Amino acid sequence: MPGASCWGRPRDGGSVTARAPAKVNLVLKVGGLRPDGFHDLVTVFHAVGPDEEVTVADGPPGVLVRVRGEGAELVPLGEGNLAARAVRALADEVGVDLAARGVAVAITKRIPVAAGLAGGSGDAAAALVALDSLWATGLDRERMGALGATLGSDVPFALEGGTAVGTGRGEHLAPVLGRGRYHWVLAFSPAGLSTPRVFAELDRGRALDRVGVHPAPGVAGAGAGGVGPTVPPGVLAALRRGDAEALGAALDNDMQAPALRLVPALRECLDVGRERGALGGVVSGSGPTCAFLVRDPDHAADVAAALTAAGACRAVVQVTGPAAGASVLG
Ligand code: C5P
Repeated sequence: MPGASCWGRPRDGGSVTARAPAKVNLVLKVGGLRPDGFHDLVTVFHAVGPDEEVTVADGPPGVLVRVRGEGAELVPLGEGNLAARAVRALADEVGVDLAARGVAVAITKRIPVAAGLAGGSGDAAAALVALDSLWATGLDRERMGALGATLGSDVPFALEGGTAVGTGRGEHLAPVLGRGRYHWVLAFSPAGLSTPRVFAELDRGRALDRVGVHPAPGVAGAGAGGVGPTVPPGVLAALRRGDAEALGAALDNDMQAPALRLVPALRECLDVGRERGALGGVVSGSGPTCAFLVRDPDHAADVAAALTAAGACRAVVQVTGPAAGASVLG
């Protein structure tokens, strides 16, 4: 089983810590509900801080999970834990018997739970790369990505990081070649939103409005086979140029309207950021986190202060992107 790891230096015993980024969706266009219960979509993922951190070590038989940090009390410790599922999936993949060689997993959360920032996916991705290193499995990126996709639609992107177009249910990735670093303010909401609930609200709204899910004209052709939702070309052009102003204007999320119906207070949060001159503001993924693209660190501090003063959110963080995908620390 030992082999070279593309995620970091293989270790022999001891413990290994890995990190994984959060994500915002610069664009998220949702198509129809599929027979498997997922929606076809096309999105532009963009990895940003803050990082999740996961440490794995040899442990008692099975998988033992501990969680601390942001929203730790909301994280399931049993089979519902994505990092634990990642450990089991990797053990199955490489033939490790967890009854004989157990794993202790310690998660330090910095990404809020149910925030639309893929924190759980980050836990899974960090657990995969940390364990890959601990066990020196030598799995290549393709197999690791495929394994990640079995755990959640956003896990492959948490492994890869950067900026990428995601298609299918979000698990098929094509890196976006762009330039520049972008400054963001993330506004955390007091409550979480369940992803399936927001998708269901999107479907309900569309059924009521009898809105079709056809692509807008002038598309970038990212939809599978040329059908289904597609990336508006403006966002890719803005990323290629490193044009933050154009990128801010191009931010677009089909999940925003249903998220706003479920949490109307988010509207005020978006308004405060825009009034403060954010280049763009959008609900991230299925929400409820609002992401504001700003000009520079000073502008980030200004927008963050305005959001805090208005009491428009529970907490704010200033981050940059694109961030690297999951990697071993140290
Ligand atoms: O893949 P993940 O586990 O993150 O998905 C959680 C839930 O979100 C799915 O069970 C499904 O209800 C919904 N979902 C969807 N379409 C997607 C991704 C997720 O409907 N493309």
